[in-house]
Amino acid sequence: MKFFIDTANLNEIKEAYDLGVLDGVTTNPSLMAKEGISGDANVKAHYKAICDIVDDNVSAEVIATDFEGMIREGKELAKIDDKIVVKVPMIKEGVKAIKYFSSEGIRTNCTLIFGPGQAIIAAKAGATYVSPFVGRLDDISYDGLELIEQIVNIYENYGYATQVLAASIRHTMHLIKCAEIGADVATCPLKVITGLLKHPLTDSGLAQFLADHAKAAGK
Ligand code: E4P
Repeated sequence: MKFFIDTANLNEIKEAYDLGVLDGVTTNPSLMAKEGISGDANVKAHYKAICDIVDDNVSAEVIATDFEGMIREGKELAKIDDKIVVKVPMIKEGVKAIKYFSSEGIRTNCTLIFGPGQAIIAAKAGATYVSPFVGRLDDISYDGLELIEQIVNIYENYGYATQVLAASIRHTMHLIKCAEIGADVATCPLKVITGLLKHPLTDSGLAQFLADHAKAAGK
């Protein structure tokens, strides 16, 4: 399973990368705004800075919602670095744009997926990744993890090459369940990745080992 970090914060990206388990980054316009990044030049420079930290897979989202605008923006984003994956919303014009990018060899991440039908359309259009939003479905009392399972099964049935990128992952159990189901990727905040490390028995066990060692050494 690939781990992507869901942030535009360079320090957090660096921290996750230094841990040695990071496979990519997802951003969205809200996450870029949270870091105070605005204006074409600043946005592009920030994406470049992210690409310089990680090895691959940096999702950068288009703002346009019409076909021509998405193509124009997506091409500009793809020019920043080979690591860029153009993130396109699941709307009719977006599907056409994904088909176009796919024919041009530009990788895409189809975002804002909330139903299995949307995931089928995105795969047929040639999306590299689909991003079903687990947490946001849970927020409105739908089962986000069930959607991941449905998409994984459907893609297996037909051998679609599109990878299931479980997004809107809010806690460690979301991530672990996605791994059990067989999602190809999970994108989540840094605290979810580091949360996987933690277990109270590890902490108490280590404390005991160190205490016993110190006792034996007469310290
Ligand atoms: C996915 O690419 C989105 O950036 C993200 O996972 C949304 O998560 P949220 O619902 O916690 O905002």
